[in-house]
Amino acid sequence: MKELQNLFENNRIWAENKVKNDPQVFSRLSEKQAPKYLWIGCSDSRIPANEILGLEPGEVFVHRNVGNLFPHTDFNCLSVLQYGIDYLNVEHVIVCGHYRCGGVIAAMENAQFGLVDNWLRNIRDIYSREKEQLDAIKDKELKSNRLVELNVLYQVMNVCHTTIVQNAWANNKKLSIHGWTYDLSTGLLKDLNCCISSLDQIEDTYRTLKLH
Ligand code: CO
Repeated sequence: MKELQNLFENNRIWAENKVKNDPQVFSRLSEKQAPKYLWIGCSDSRIPANEILGLEPGEVFVHRNVGNLFPHTDFNCLSVLQYGIDYLNVEHVIVCGHYRCGGVIAAMENAQFGLVDNWLRNIRDIYSREKEQLDAIKDKELKSNRLVELNVLYQVMNVCHTTIVQNAWANNKKLSIHGWTYDLSTGLLKDLNCCISSLDQIEDTYRTLKLH
């Protein structure tokens, strides 16, 4: 455990500095959290949600997994979404993918990487549905960039197709679902201009409620 001692030392210094700047910070944070945003991003170590958004502890509720996926049967994803919306009252759900995502690139290969292949199957399904436009892109990096973006758009829709989001809208909650990407080589976010805020923006097949 000695080798991890530096992490405890880092932590001690971090906590000290926080208190120096704001003596009440931890007593306040220990009372409650009231984040406005829910971040659904990739586990990739280079994309710390708080840091790239310039947000402090308590300001963003975070869920990360390999490939920033939101499968409609995944209880982990669904639980985070439900708690975030129903109890924390987040107003924005941000699905953020990133270029050069190992998960996306692996899903484009005729190769196995272990158990994770079964998770990445969600991305292979998107490739299969969008094969025509993807195969038209000859450059491998540009092709994977496009699949990164398509994956985000599909996950945004998966979030919107849940009863959780649709019930929030039915109850007149202010709630928008956004699709973004992050560029590791510049540190910059890109808005994919996909912002879904109401039931009428959703394909009828996936509406679990009638439009009024
Ligand atoms: Co990734």
